Amino acid sequence: MPVNILAIESSCDDTSAAVMQDGRVLSNVTASQAVHLRYGGVVPELASRAHEQNIVPVVDKALADAGIDRKDLNAVAFTRGPGLMGSLLVGVSFAKSFALSLGLPIIEVNHLQAHISAHFIPEDDRPTPSFPFLCLLVSGGNSQIVLVKDYLDMEIIGQTIDDAAGEAFDKCAKVMGLGYPGGPVIDKLAKEGNKDAFSFAHPAIPGYNYSFSGLKTSFLYTLRDELKLNPNFIEERKNDLCASLQKTVIEILMKKFISAAKDKKIKTIAVAGGVSANSALREAMQVEGGKRGWQVYIPRFAYTTDNAAMVGAAAYRKYLAGIFADQSVAPYSKTTL
Ligand code: KG4
Repeated sequence: MPVNILAIESSCDDTSAAVMQDGRVLSNVTASQAVHLRYGGVVPELASRAHEQNIVPVVDKALADAGIDRKDLNAVAFTRGPGLMGSLLVGVSFAKSFALSLGLPIIEVNHLQAHISAHFIPEDDRPTPSFPFLCLLVSGGNSQIVLVKDYLDMEIIGQTIDDAAGEAFDKCAKVMGLGYPGGPVIDKLAKEGNKDAFSFAHPAIPGYNYSFSGLKTSFLYTLRDELKLNPNFIEERKNDLCASLQKTVIEILMKKFISAAKDKKIKTIAVAGGVSANSALREAMQVEGGKRGWQVYIPRFAYTTDNAAMVGAAAYRKYLAGIFADQSVAPYSKTTL
């Protein structure tokens, strides 16, 4: 009998549901929330309300697309955290009630583990990384270097002490008036710009940890000083600003990651999280990989930003290991792996 899992992701501003069969994706439906665009960032209260509106239609569509009746499900999985508390509460409460009404077990999934688990989704044309591998996990809320020893055994060996890489993209985009989320826009405009036009601060943080707040400040100061001389500075130099900022973020990410890979003597490498959609980061990984004999695994585009298939991929491993939650489980907003 196949194992069918309904997975739900609602940690930030995407309401997503997926149906997985034996770890493979039968459906993966995501409703994004346009309501935040005009605010230049996610407004938590609006996110919770939109999840509340979206969750039932999204789950219905995921089941319909998969051609799976709810009575054929074996478990219901959900993102427990980290994320926005109001957003998480919608997904967690829905999943618990849905499972309870069907007499199904529930599986709680850590959002960061889910991002990495996107690499375990079997797809015919893509090999999955062998253990151990080193994963650069870069999203809107996290920047981490994770040593992945097994499906459910992951160790964070470095992480940001302040902002995440995605946050740096989003906040710098916001001050340039580029809208939200800023990462994809910066990626696009950077292609037309000169990456050596401006130089921004690089952090001096020990070990494998990251910091992006200094870069953000240095970017802001550049804008402030240049705008005094030329009020059209941003408009005229937008592409160069984006290219230089992107180059700096990637240099910061890659420097620590390369030394971690060297020290740990690991050549199986992966990237995960929303920022792994960045074309220059993907290229930098491939270029470094070519130089260093790495085997580089980059997730399919659809599994980089928040989605429920990655939650289902992590949940399937927990199902096989017999790890279930009980109905008293509550979401958490902050955690490590
Ligand atoms: O993983 P994700 O969907 O949500 C979190 O769990 O945080 O990541 C969202 C982040 C945002 O900061 C967004 O700007 C960034 O991923 N992002 C990108 C790109 N696409 C999404 N950053 C740089 N380049 C991109 N192409």
